[in-house]
Amino acid sequence: MKITLIAALAQNRVIGINNTLPWKLSADLKRFKALTTGHTIVMGRKTFESLGRPLPGRRHICVSRNDSSEELTADKNYPEQVFWCGDLHAALKQLARSGETLATNGQVFIIGGADIYSQALPLADTLELTHIEQPFEGDAYFPHFENMFSLVEETCGEENSLKFRFARYASNRPEGIIVRRARASDAAFIAQSQIKMAMESEGLELAAERVMAGVSAVFLNPNRGEYFIAERSLPNNTMQSVGCLLVQKEWSDWRNADFHWLHSVYIEKHERRKGIFRWLYKVVQARAHSQGACGLRLYVETANSVAQKTYASLNMNSDHYLLFEASFNS
Ligand SMILES: NC(=O)c1ccc[n+]([C@@H]2O[C@H](COP(=O)([O-])OP(=O)(O)OC[C@H]3O[C@@H](n4cnc5c(N)ncnc54)[C@H](OP(=O)(O)O)[C@@H]3O)[C@@H](O)[C@H]2O)c1
Repeated sequence: MKITLIAALAQNRVIGINNTLPWKLSADLKRFKALTTGHTIVMGRKTFESLGRPLPGRRHICVSRNDSSEELTADKNYPEQVFWCGDLHAALKQLARSGETLATNGQVFIIGGADIYSQALPLADTLELTHIEQPFEGDAYFPHFENMFSLVEETCGEENSLKFRFARYASNRPEGIIVRRARASDAAFIAQSQIKMAMESEGLELAAERVMAGVSAVFLNPNRGEYFIAERSLPNNTMQSVGCLLVQKEWSDWRNADFHWLHSVYIEKHERRKGIFRWLYKVVQARAHSQGACGLRLYVETANSVAQKTYASLNMNSDHYLLFEASFNS
C-alpha cells in the first residue's frame, strides 16, 4: 500500500488556524481534488470536523481516541463513505491488509491535520506539498520533514498575489522498513535488545527481570521517555521488530529548550549496514526539531569505534564534553 501525505503549508510551516485554513487558494483545492478523488483519505477527528461534510468520491477514514475500537467501523450517518477507528496505526494496518478493497487502488492519502501528519510522516512514501511562499498566523504546524524526504519535482504558481509551489517529495526510508513509537507490547523485544547490547558492547550479563522492569517503567510513566521501534515488513504482510531506541528529554537552562538524548540504541545483527539506524535517527531528529528541541545528544562506549563512525557520519561530534560518572551499582 502506498501512503501519500498531502498538505499546504506556509513559509513558517503553519497549516491551520482555529480549525480552518488560513488562506484561500483555489489552485490548491483543485490539485487536492484531482489527486485524492477516487482514493481513500485518512484524517484526524478535528480535520473531519473542519470539512463540515464528507468530500464526494472519496472513502474517509477518521481517527479519534474516543473510539475504543481498533477496527474500522462505518459511520451510521455516512455508512458507505466514512469509517472511524480508535488508533491511527491500527487503521493503516487494516487498510494495508484489505488491499484494493479499502485502500482504493492500493493507495491512501493522509490529509491532516498537524497531529496526524507528525505521526504518519515516518510511514509516508510520498509527500504532495503546496508551499505557500509567505508566513501566516496560525496554531497548527506541519512537522519538519526535510531530512527524511528528497524533492522529486516542483512547479510554481501565483493566484491573487499569493505565490505558491507544488512540490512532490519521495521518502528516503530504507525499503520495507518503518519506524513507529513503541507500545507496551514491545517491552519484551526492547528488553531482549538491551540484554544483547550489554553483552555485545561491554561483555555484561544483565538480569533479565530487572531490565524488563526498567523498560516497562518507561511505558508506565511517559515522562521517563519514549521508545521507537524499527520494523521490517515480511512477505506474508506481517511486521518484525528489528531495532529500537529510547529518547529522553533533558532541560537546558542555557538554551531554554530540551536536548533530546538517544539511549538504548540496538539494531539486530543481521539487519545492520542497511540504513536502519540512520532512518531511526532521522525520524527522531525531525521529531525533535518539530518539538522545538535545541539538539540531540548521546554517549557511546570509548572503545566502540564502529558506532562512533556512524554518529560522526550523521554530523554529530564529540568536541565539547567528556562524560564522567559515579555509578552506585553495577
Ligand atoms: N493546510 C492543510 O493542508 C491542512 C490539512 C488538514 C488540516 N489542516 C488544519 O490542521 C488543523 C487540525 O489539526 P490538529 O492537529 O489540531 O487535529 P487533527 O490532526 O485533524 O486531529 C487530531 C485528533 O485526531 C485524533 N487522533 C490523533 N492521533 C490519533 C491516534 N494515534 N489514534 C487515534 N486518534 C488520533 C484525536 O481525536 P480525539 O480528540 O477525538 O481523540 C486528536 O484530537 C486545523 O487548523 C485544520 O484546518 C490543514
